Amino acid sequence: MKKLYFLFALIILVFACSPKTTAPAKQDMTKAVPKVSYDTEVSALLLKSCAPCHYPAQDGKKKPFDTYEAAKNNITDILARVELPQDDPKFMPFKLKKPALTAEEIALLKNWAKGGYSM
Ligand code: HEC
Repeated sequence: MKKLYFLFALIILVFACSPKTTAPAKQDMTKAVPKVSYDTEVSALLLKSCAPCHYPAQDGKKKPFDTYEAAKNNITDILARVELPQDDPKFMPFKLKKPALTAEEIALLKNWAKGGYSM
């Protein structure tokens, strides 16, 4: 009899001590889109990569991307251009006069849109 109790105790102990198994797929699904804000990230990225051409204050003559509204209203075109192959004549930044956006930078713009265009 005693042996049986011991066995039970052992089984309970093993279960109690085993690490909780997480359901990774489900947890990742519920993970919120990383919060991206225009003021802290998007404006800096566009300024770094799209100035001076798209910044009227810097004598840019191309479509302005210098405000929150402009960035938001043109996000589809902006993403389309930066995701083109780099040798496409429509690729932006124009003729690679500025370095191409990194995958992280493109993801940042997408997450900004997905997250509802936080200021
Ligand atoms: C060196 C100057 C230069 C830089 C830097 C530059 N562009 Fe442009 N952009 C142009 C020129 C020139 C055109 C017009 C030719 C064309 O449409 O391909 C243009 C046009 C565009 C258009 C089409 C605008 C319209 O009138 O509909 C988009 C969208 C665009 N650029 C996005 C970007 C983005 C996003 C960046 C930064 C990641 C960027 N560009 C950086 C020169 C530049």
